[in-house]
Amino acid sequence: MKPTGAGADRGADDLNKPKTPPGLTLRLLAAERLASVLKGANFAPFSVAEIADGRDRALANRLVTVALRRHGQLSAIIARYLERGIPKKSGPFEAQLRLSLAHLVFLPELGDHSAIFLAVEAAKRDTRSQHLGKLMNAVLRRAQGEAHQLRQLPPELLFPEALQSAWIAAYGEAALEGFAEALLEGAPLDLTLRDDDPALLEALRAAPVLADTVRIDARDRPVDALPGFAEGRWWVQDAAAAIPARLLGLAPGARVLDLCAAPGGKTAQLIKAGYEVTALDSDAERMARMATNLARLGQQAELVVADVLSYAPTAPFDGILLDAPCSATGTFRRHPEVIWHRDAADIAGRAALQKRFIERSLAWLKPGGTLVYCVCSLEPEEGEAQAAWLADRPDVTADPVRPLDLVGLESAVTPAGYVRTYPGMRVPGENDGTLDGFFVARFRRG
Ligand SMILES: C[S@@+](CC[C@H](N)C(=O)[O-])C[C@H]1O[C@@H](n2cnc3c(N)ncnc32)[C@H](O)[C@@H]1O
Repeated sequence: MKPTGAGADRGADDLNKPKTPPGLTLRLLAAERLASVLKGANFAPFSVAEIADGRDRALANRLVTVALRRHGQLSAIIARYLERGIPKKSGPFEAQLRLSLAHLVFLPELGDHSAIFLAVEAAKRDTRSQHLGKLMNAVLRRAQGEAHQLRQLPPELLFPEALQSAWIAAYGEAALEGFAEALLEGAPLDLTLRDDDPALLEALRAAPVLADTVRIDARDRPVDALPGFAEGRWWVQDAAAAIPARLLGLAPGARVLDLCAAPGGKTAQLIKAGYEVTALDSDAERMARMATNLARLGQQAELVVADVLSYAPTAPFDGILLDAPCSATGTFRRHPEVIWHRDAADIAGRAALQKRFIERSLAWLKPGGTLVYCVCSLEPEEGEAQAAWLADRPDVTADPVRPLDLVGLESAVTPAGYVRTYPGMRVPGENDGTLDGFFVARFRRG
């Protein structure tokens, strides 16, 4: 395999450096990406600009993704083989080790002929880990020999203990098994359609999921090369993420504020529903992406870059969709790293901020106006508890969601009239796929 893309020629102009064995550049790039996630960054898959060759890009993304999905199990394996843990100040050693363990233990279909050699070579390329080649070799050889046994590690290791206990309390033991399956399965590609067209579905090889959401189970091309992308016929949006905007239920022409809107999946839905939309987000870069997305879709909205905590609208709105920043634990199929980056204090901090956002947005609604609050979180503090707090306020009336409002996924409507989806939840139908975790609640002012 010949690695290509950014960094592929690293060192090629320096004749004193050892020749780069095939596959090594890809490993170095993958380890760099994994190391940044281990330090707290969000995982961003490699783009075409970063690794041009499709097969190399797919392999690099697969290695990092599997290392992140199996993070808890890999930690247990490392603890078993390295009594004193990862050596201090060893630079890329940990990321290389995790990638290679993920390869040897959890990706047997890739074959393991060069995995150990590349890991040792990679260790040698960095001054901080060059003395650890032997250790890398020894650990990986043991793992290779015991791979079958290591594959039987219990699924409980897939999630941090604290989150796991909270999820069992909220959703039950059986649901947790579904979470584990969903984590390992990953997420399909869901699209929201701008307009109905059976020919487009056929060209996309997509099947309907819920309302105007369709699903592509296997794809061989980057998103922007799929049929209808350039013509703005659809946008990428998980089936669960598309639920909140549909629940606003106002008449076309209603003035709607989309709060925390970028990159604009829900804004596009609100425009499609015929509302006059103001979309607000504090992140200028993400709002620039939204402007590009809306231009592609041929849609228009008023775009505002502002902080919810300092914004002041000139006139009140008929409806507000508040997609509050949250722990995002419901997105672990796509972002397995989020579950390892969160703790109780972090979740409590986010829940406190969400309350401030809710209070401000209520003041911007006309009397009788609708607030839809949603989070892509599995944590009851950010979902159910916020709704209970809101329902208790004297200036707010609950507007329960009815099963009829969610045809095809009635089971997600709770007895209190909220919507709760979670990663193991399956949408009945042709493709029987799973969903991101979302919480949605609807209220009226007054
Ligand atoms: C869950 S994401 C929004 C996803 C978006 N609604 C969509 O459907 O594409 C949360 C957003 O909240 C924004 N955000 C965070 N803090 C904010 C603040 N204080 N004021 C405005 N927006 C904020 C972030 O920039 C981020 O884009």
